[in-house]
Amino acid sequence: MRIDKFLANMGLGTRKEVKQLIKAKAVTVDGTFVKDSGYSINPETADVRVYDEKIVYKPTIYLMLNKPPGVISATEDHKDQTVMDLLADDVRHYDLHPVGRLDKDTVGLLLLTNDGDLTHQLLSPKKKVPKKYFAHIDGVVTDEDVKAFSEGVEIGEGYITKPGELIILESAPMSKIELIITEGKFHQVKRMFEAVDKKVVFLKRLQMGTLLLDETLAEGDYRELTVEELENLRAK
Ligand code: URA
Repeated sequence: MRIDKFLANMGLGTRKEVKQLIKAKAVTVDGTFVKDSGYSINPETADVRVYDEKIVYKPTIYLMLNKPPGVISATEDHKDQTVMDLLADDVRHYDLHPVGRLDKDTVGLLLLTNDGDLTHQLLSPKKKVPKKYFAHIDGVVTDEDVKAFSEGVEIGEGYITKPGELIILESAPMSKIELIITEGKFHQVKRMFEAVDKKVVFLKRLQMGTLLLDETLAEGDYRELTVEELENLRAK
């Protein structure tokens, strides 16, 4: 692993900050100052120090999955296939969990990690992290729906949603829309459309905070976040 990635993953700063540490001769590997941010180390065995403080290696991992339909976003289930079953052996042994839930039939962006702090940061209602969805809607989606969503709709038990931004891509008997919401109530998007007498027939998550679904990932495929994607997510 590159030394800059290692240090950024261990929470020592952004890639830029980590580079500055290296430039400032603050970083040693096995007793020797590192000059090159791309210097390669074995994180399991290298003795990495910053200002002579040993950095204890705690492997964290961040995977972006393009969730396929028919699998559930849980770590285990006695009946259904879970997103964990899609992972290869080399990442399975990390204690990963999905960041939030997508319904069994929902597809698209799902982050898997073992970083509890980041998970908390992304899911805490206080942080109001925006989530963007694309959907096919059975029914003609109108400007009244846009207005209703912008004011909040009742989705059951008297709960009124926070404002959502509804973008109509195609208003037709089978409409196409995008919706940005900052909450993650159970079946939230489906229930918001039920509140205006329409039905979600296809739902895909495109974005969570700054993280965009990599459309080159086929459904069921995943990849590690880039250093930049991780930095941006953490910064929010
Ligand atoms: N809203 C839903 O209704 N389902 C999802 O999977 C995600 C958001």
